[in-house]
Amino acid sequence: MQATERAEQSAEQEPAQTADGGPHAEPAADKHTDASEPGATFDFMVVSNRMPVDRCSPDEPGCEDGWRRSPGGLVTALAPMMTKTDGAWVGWHGAPDEHLEPFSHGGIDLIPVQLSTRDVELYYEGFSNATLWPLYHDVIAPPEFHRAWWDTYRKVNKRFADAVVRYAAQGATVWVQDYQLQLVPKMLREARPDLTIGFFNHIPFPPPEIFAQLPWRRAIIDGLLGADLVGFQRSSDAGNFMRSARRFLGASVKQQQVHVKGADGETTHIARAQAFPISIDVKQISELAQRPEIIERAKQIRRDLGNPKTILLGVDRLDYTKGIRHRLKAYEELLEDGKVTVEDASLIQVASPSRERVEQYRLLREEVEGTVGHINGTFDTMQNTAVRYLHHSYPIEEMVALYLAADVMLVTALRDGMNLVAKEYVTARTNNDGALVLSEFAGAADQLKQALLMNPHDIDGLKDTIMRAVNMQPAEAARRMRAMRKQILTNDVDLWSADFLSALKEKVVRDDS
Ligand code: G6P
Repeated sequence: MQATERAEQSAEQEPAQTADGGPHAEPAADKHTDASEPGATFDFMVVSNRMPVDRCSPDEPGCEDGWRRSPGGLVTALAPMMTKTDGAWVGWHGAPDEHLEPFSHGGIDLIPVQLSTRDVELYYEGFSNATLWPLYHDVIAPPEFHRAWWDTYRKVNKRFADAVVRYAAQGATVWVQDYQLQLVPKMLREARPDLTIGFFNHIPFPPPEIFAQLPWRRAIIDGLLGADLVGFQRSSDAGNFMRSARRFLGASVKQQQVHVKGADGETTHIARAQAFPISIDVKQISELAQRPEIIERAKQIRRDLGNPKTILLGVDRLDYTKGIRHRLKAYEELLEDGKVTVEDASLIQVASPSRERVEQYRLLREEVEGTVGHINGTFDTMQNTAVRYLHHSYPIEEMVALYLAADVMLVTALRDGMNLVAKEYVTARTNNDGALVLSEFAGAADQLKQALLMNPHDIDGLKDTIMRAVNMQPAEAARRMRAMRKQILTNDVDLWSADFLSALKEKVVRDDS
């Protein structure tokens, strides 16, 4: 089918015919389609709320020609694959009320979805980030439930589904990403049964006891079950999802599979749930970590801080799930106890701006900035500062220089799908030195078992773990770092996407035979 015909077909219309040859699970490598060409369709599409680039103003660091890399782990993980693939990426470009035609950026074909100011308020800030985000992260903050938010969430999910329906070639593979778009798989299946549909949830999936609070829990599970394969970060997330499918939809789940039935009671497809722990672009980080100018920049950072014995580093979006308050509390007490001094140690906290119009994020910023001010007011000297707090996002080159400059990396998340910062730090430590303090509530703890694992709620435990990291002997640090590096170097993001896509294909082949 040509794109012109597709343009007229929306996700609510009659389903298209199933492809004779069956869906493809791999992107076509031998031809290049350009999304701006009239009639362009794609064999492979990624759909996420964010596209890889985000609108910015020229005075912001890392802003080039009005664009910068979008925040968060999702884009970090998917962008490398999409630069090597002849596929298209459907997403929002970060500016409300701006209509853009498909365009190409950094070698990726991009299909922008427009959101109005009101959509941003109700779908993005509201349902996605004030209902689902706290609900899926152990209700660290209380989720809010509003029917108007839910209505807009449905409406915007439909808009994303329509963009795919328009641009997906017959039998294409579509990979939907994350909690903002959980209704898209079912919308696509209804409109285009010829598609192979994958979904990946980048954040945790809560246990049914917590998920139960959501007034629209059945519709969400039903939406996700529209996919052939639903991927999660941890096997516990996949287990939580399947338990919810059983409990709230009465689905019969066997070996992580659900036979999904259509309105006529016939099985339409089999949906599977499985863990695929996400990773990073190891090649890029390793290469940057060995560049002379970045090594020099790391030395410069140390010099700028007065060459302290120990530099501790935290790098997070300014989000209440990241445990920044717990980290600051522990550090403040270590200063009070005299276990660390501002002469010997310095904590750099990069807190990149995030979701700034959402109330909980505003409150968090006030609290973190108040605490940093209090710590610095109490412990700073004319020469030394206790906490260097940077409320910015930085280009990857500067991040790698920071990773190289830091002796101790602090990842103290209260709940985190994966945490790619932990993996980036380990990858950058090509000399096998440095120590990683890692929360057991981050998905990365399943793979980085040689990190110093801890419970961030236990402030005394966190303080002890920080001191173990500060005082770790080089031989122990090297043993731990080598083991963690081996894990990441052999499980990079290319393997993650290849594993997911081949699992998606495997199922389709088995069903068709
Ligand atoms: C996490 C989510 C992503 C999200 C990112 C940044 O990594 O899993 O879906 O894009 O945070 O958050 P934002 O709200 O700025 O897109």
